[in-house]
Amino acid sequence: MKAYVLNEPGAPENLHLQDIEKPKPEKNQVLVKVKAISINPVDTKTRDGKAFYGAIKDEPPVIVGWDISGEVVATGDDVEYFKEGDEVFGMVNFPGHGRAYAEYVLSPESHLAHKPSGVSHEEAAAATLAALTAWQVLVQQANIQPGQRVLIHAAAGGVGHYAIQITKYFKAYVIGTASAAKHAFIKGLGADEQIDYRETKVEEEVKDIDIVLDSLGEENSLRSLKTLKDGGTLVSILGGAKESVQEKAKERNIEAKNYLVQSSGEDQTKLADLMREGALQSHVSHVFPFAEMAKAHRQVETRKTKGKVVVVLD
Ligand SMILES: NC(=O)c1ccc[n+]([C@@H]2O[C@H](COP(=O)([O-])OP(=O)(O)OC[C@H]3O[C@@H](n4cnc5c(N)ncnc54)[C@H](OP(=O)(O)O)[C@@H]3O)[C@@H](O)[C@H]2O)c1
Repeated sequence: MKAYVLNEPGAPENLHLQDIEKPKPEKNQVLVKVKAISINPVDTKTRDGKAFYGAIKDEPPVIVGWDISGEVVATGDDVEYFKEGDEVFGMVNFPGHGRAYAEYVLSPESHLAHKPSGVSHEEAAAATLAALTAWQVLVQQANIQPGQRVLIHAAAGGVGHYAIQITKYFKAYVIGTASAAKHAFIKGLGADEQIDYRETKVEEEVKDIDIVLDSLGEENSLRSLKTLKDGGTLVSILGGAKESVQEKAKERNIEAKNYLVQSSGEDQTKLADLMREGALQSHVSHVFPFAEMAKAHRQVETRKTKGKVVVVLD
């Protein structure tokens, strides 16, 4: 089978399309023939030798990527929930070695969900790492409740565009930050207010927030504390809840924490249910053929993507 092998970290062209042996499923593993792969900032950071490169570099062949949608072609003896021919999607082995940039991917069955029939492989692949992050942060880390006020940073991006929709699903009020050109997009997803972070200091415009989802880091987390109610929650997905933030948060009984998304077929199944109901949709702004993986990486590296970038296989 063909797979993108990373022999040396570095530029997008360091991802080499090579023939490697097709893996075989053991026990609780499922072999998926991949139809679509979604590309995340963590993929590009890992390819460049950062993020999870250190964790996977000694497990050859090193293959980047975690997000897939496709069809089950083989199952291990102990697999209960999936059979050959099922259409599935999920974030495989995160944090760990996902090896998703390949024609066939091995996944623990506990990391997958059945793909809703009305949803394309592109849309399903997109709704894995980014959508799981939004779900796990809002539901499990921040315990979102109806009527709460939620501030989502980078609301037009992969995580942000799912976070807006999940917030609306819980009947909460959502304020999103994005450049002005993307305000119509986030309003269309359900954002009640849009803040142009280039023109406005969010901490001067926004107050009485219950939950902040920060994806920009320490400085943004510090400023965002000022928007929160006493007793509110800030969850940073970019390590923003550093000591400086924790100290200030403590004074006002705010819970400030960092979070890293985890593979979960159970959570993926909940997202599939929302997609079936029409409560959650993927906005895929760029689709590249498998041969153009480097271009997909360059698009993600612009940090300007609206929604998601997806790569498709024949
Ligand atoms: N800890 C975790 O588990 C976890 C999980 C997922 C992602 N992450 C991290 O979270 C970050 C975001 O991920 P993502 O997939 O959503 O990225 P993404 O899709 O690449 O985000 C792109 C979006 O970010 C917006 N943006 C850039 N700078 C901004 C700013 N200063 N203020 C507001 N919006 C801004 C852009 O909108 P404009 O064009 O309007 O600027 C663009 O639409 C990445 O660093 C990623 O590695 C962490």
